[in-house]
Amino acid sequence: MGMFKKNARNTPTPKPLPKLSHKIPSLVRGMHDLLPEDEKYWRAVREAAQKTADRFGYIYMETPILEETGLFVRAVGATSDIVQKEMFSFTEPSGVKLSLRPEGTAGVARAYLQHGMVTMQQPVKLWYYGPFFRHERPQAGRYRQFHQLGLEVLGDGHPVLDADVMAATHFFYQQLGLPVYFEVNSLGLPQTRKNYRVALIKYYRAKKKHLCEDCVVRYAKNPLRLLDCKNPQCQELMAEAPVLMDALDEESKNHFTQVLEYADAANVPYRLNPFLVRGLDYYTKTVFEIFYDKPEATEPVEIIEGQEKKDEGADEKIALGGGGRYDTLLKEFSGREVPALGVGLGLERAVTLLKSKNIKVKLFNEPQIYFAQLGDEARKVAMKLVQQMRQADIAVAERLSKDGLKQQLEYASKIGVYYAIILGQKELIDGTLILRDMENGIQETINADKLLEEVQKRLSAKAREGLKIQATIENRVIDTSESKEE
Ligand code: HAM
Repeated sequence: MGMFKKNARNTPTPKPLPKLSHKIPSLVRGMHDLLPEDEKYWRAVREAAQKTADRFGYIYMETPILEETGLFVRAVGATSDIVQKEMFSFTEPSGVKLSLRPEGTAGVARAYLQHGMVTMQQPVKLWYYGPFFRHERPQAGRYRQFHQLGLEVLGDGHPVLDADVMAATHFFYQQLGLPVYFEVNSLGLPQTRKNYRVALIKYYRAKKKHLCEDCVVRYAKNPLRLLDCKNPQCQELMAEAPVLMDALDEESKNHFTQVLEYADAANVPYRLNPFLVRGLDYYTKTVFEIFYDKPEATEPVEIIEGQEKKDEGADEKIALGGGGRYDTLLKEFSGREVPALGVGLGLERAVTLLKSKNIKVKLFNEPQIYFAQLGDEARKVAMKLVQQMRQADIAVAERLSKDGLKQQLEYASKIGVYYAIILGQKELIDGTLILRDMENGIQETINADKLLEEVQKRLSAKAREGLKIQATIENRVIDTSESKEE
């Protein structure tokens, strides 16, 4: 019988086909798409990253997304949260354990040693940009796949470099128009940390029963992380805890003082935070985290996107990035003294802030001209002129498949161009074009043969105007800081 069965009149009727499932495949929990609506922010972030790297002399490099699990265990620390519960790991049929990289420093340190960068002129300044993976509980500002911009300076222990990494980080956020400040601390030499660990265990021993559940585990595994807890009762206990800065060795104290002096010289805004410990084990001496410097102090923190429920993450201040020195990591890997430091900046958090604060991002080479054409005849000429403008390195936007003027001008104003060029039937016959200033709506007729010259002239004038405005803003900033000091 196959597909057919007989009905009452004995004629075959087709069997209904099985229903197709129209369930749209969904994202894996904690992952996110970078959507066209956010593209301008991501582009601004990439451009700011490239500009920072160029200005501060960093060379781009990439490490693979997959590394041996052991690399992260050795670098980040077997007892760290990252290694204990946040890595996406699997075992290859050969038995080799691999993990998606949860952070970038370990891979860069491996690559530096493996490719003999030790023979290059030191310090070697490297930067990277890309996805990282941590199996965290999805909440405000935490994704399972996120992007970091990383800067690493290897092969030099001078304190001026700590301040220079901070200055580069500050410059990056300045390019994006985000005011930030650093919280800084010094963790000292490994021996200092060991002594301090003992002092902390001693202090907390009698208070263990008052600690939160997480801190009981931290007490046993990684007592320094007790200082990171946000639980109010644990914070109360923390107030009386011994302070690492008091136990700091002379070398680290001296180093830290110099870092702060250089940071002052570079005008890097920072605040001391004696309880800052960071969640990765490789740090020595200077550590820091970067926070949004909220000018509107009374407004609630808004860096919440894709949040599943309003939980403890909602009002907690979220670090935009973090970093510090790791002077002993490469020695542990290779036996060789290679002091180093770096920073990792969480880019989803920067983009979320840019959006929630309605910050207008500056983009390089964004179209400043829109070309509108009316009708088929005009379209051919438009096609020719638009290509000529592109060849002359003028960024021009168009929607050559459309005809309606209103619709095209609406689009031009949405993308925020300075000028629209309009080519209709009349202009086609006259060999002219209409140049419309999108800011004030004033229109003038120009000769079509002079298009490139006219456009270049006007765009240079706009650029000069922009520079003038920029200079006025900068002067104003300088004025305020001077008057504050008086
Ligand atoms: P980290 O503090 O673990 O440091 O991460 C740096 C930044 O990455 C964080 O401040 C945050 O902005 C962002 N980030 C971390 N986890 C997530 C997540 N689940 N979702 C969204 N953003 C996240 C490091 O990774 C070090 N490798 C930094 C460094 C470089 N130290 C020295 N050199």
